Amino acid sequence: MCGIVGYVGKRDCAEVLIAALSKLEYRGYDSAGIAVFEQDQIHMSKSKGRLADLSAKMEREGTPKGFAGVGHTRWATHGEPSDINSHPHKGGEHVTLVHNGIIENYKELKQRLIDAGRTFVSETDTEVVAQLLDSNYAGDPLAAIAKTLQEVRGSFALGILFNDFPNQVYAVRRESPLIVGVGEGESFIASDVPAILRYTRDYYLLEHDEIAVLGENGVKFFNMQFQPLEKKLMTADWDMDAAEKQGYDHFMLKEIYEQPEAIKKTVLPRIENGLPDLSECGITPENIRDFRNIYIVACGTAMHAGMVGKYVIEKLARVPVIVDIASEFRYRSPLIGEGDLIIIISQSGETADSLAAMRLAKQLGAKTLAVVNAKGSSIAREADMLIYTHAGPEIAVASTKAYMVQIAVMYLFAFELALSKGQISEDECRRLTAQLLKTPELIAAILERKEELKTISEALLEAESLLYIGRGLDYALSMEGSLKLKEISYIHSEAYAAGELKHGTISLIYEGMPVIAVDTQKALHEKTISNIKEVKARGAKTILVCGDSYQPDGDIADFCFRLPEMEDDQLMPMPAVVPLQLLAYYTAVLRGNDVDKPRNLAKSVTVE
Ligand code: G6P
Repeated sequence: MCGIVGYVGKRDCAEVLIAALSKLEYRGYDSAGIAVFEQDQIHMSKSKGRLADLSAKMEREGTPKGFAGVGHTRWATHGEPSDINSHPHKGGEHVTLVHNGIIENYKELKQRLIDAGRTFVSETDTEVVAQLLDSNYAGDPLAAIAKTLQEVRGSFALGILFNDFPNQVYAVRRESPLIVGVGEGESFIASDVPAILRYTRDYYLLEHDEIAVLGENGVKFFNMQFQPLEKKLMTADWDMDAAEKQGYDHFMLKEIYEQPEAIKKTVLPRIENGLPDLSECGITPENIRDFRNIYIVACGTAMHAGMVGKYVIEKLARVPVIVDIASEFRYRSPLIGEGDLIIIISQSGETADSLAAMRLAKQLGAKTLAVVNAKGSSIAREADMLIYTHAGPEIAVASTKAYMVQIAVMYLFAFELALSKGQISEDECRRLTAQLLKTPELIAAILERKEELKTISEALLEAESLLYIGRGLDYALSMEGSLKLKEISYIHSEAYAAGELKHGTISLIYEGMPVIAVDTQKALHEKTISNIKEVKARGAKTILVCGDSYQPDGDIADFCFRLPEMEDDQLMPMPAVVPLQLLAYYTAVLRGNDVDKPRNLAKSVTVE
């Protein structure tokens, strides 16, 4: 989604803005632009395409030179990606701004402004805010911002320059995240922490309807009544290294390799005497054992982590778990209420649908538990209970290490819940926890075998379409494997419950169609094998991901990747997702795709 940056200081502003925007590229974008005060004149440059296209344009046409300005990467919503629709947008004489989010009532506002004689050059909702702000401006930026915020609906973050106030940057947000970084004699705004890490680790979180004013003398904060605010300074615990590639070809590969460490960081601090202890997250046996139903609500990969959670929680703790896609949950009058728990899983903690689902559940009387990676994010701040995953910054759009630690947390939670409900004994809980602690080592061993997966991925390169199949937890895993592949390789793929294939989907099988079968659950093994035989008999090229004790009979597998087995195969999703991630990665690399920034996708989806 769109990325906002802003700078006031002594450095070359254009250089800082481009460097900061490059750290937000992972969010997904299709055009970019900057606006900088040159003395008291604002100069803009914007371009469709990547930041490199913007830099090339500035080399041809001149780079704005100055010490204060704003920049933006745009992920098109209102109007196609084009130079004109790119931000910043001017609102007339006084205002230039960048925007992240959606202005829901932009149509009526636009009509009102047109009726008042204003003309528009772009198709964006952003230009509407710019023009509205300009029309509300009568010499006082704070008053103009406050009046404008009363009139706009939606979620947004804005970085604003007022012509009459050179070398100042104004920022305000509602829903969409924005941070304000502070360094020695300089200050920044950004949609996310990695943008400023090169310059400072100190930042403030701008809250809903707060205004920040960045000037030569530092930063001031105000509420909508123009009262000054004291805010708490935060320090990022990520460093630049964590946000750089460190010699890996892609962030995705680096992040796949960081998984063993991420599991340790997430799990180890939550183990006490061999048992899960989530008390630092506000979770105690007493406050979780009586929930009637558990809802797990999330989007994309995070929802797939929830699917693993469902199987494990239901099996161990014997509580019904309903997994839902956040954008669906909200609009179907969910039956959730008092006595229920909703678990929201989100890497970014800012996904608009997940946040709205959590708020709805809270309103209906449910308790909320957030499993979030990004510190201080909206979902993290609003939940009753909070388990941070410690994956560190995840830059690649396709999520890997965040998923891994989300499922690690699902296990910890399931173990603690099962123990608190007396469904498992302390010994059993210790045994399961010890298994969880073994996963980093197993995953490290699988990563050593990446070349095997590179070879197998060659068999997928030319496929028009493929299927992932599995049963039980392997089905949950197949969903994630399939999503990973389609996100970055652009090959169509579907995940199917292996036993359901013959009820329709098997008609899609054509000679040579790759089918990836995940078969790690011993109790389901024979059934899964029958399903693999069904597709094999119809010409599929089968790739089997299975435990290492399994000896495929005959020629049912064209390729086989054997996994080190765990004493308890409930935990197999953790090692088993790694070959699926690497298969997707190598397939995308071999197809020459932009692995870290796949087309049309955004990392943090802050619009509905
Ligand atoms: C986007 C990303 C996915 C992610 C999903 C949910 O679609 O491309 O990788 O799984 O959002 O994001 P969240 O930050 O809530 O986990």
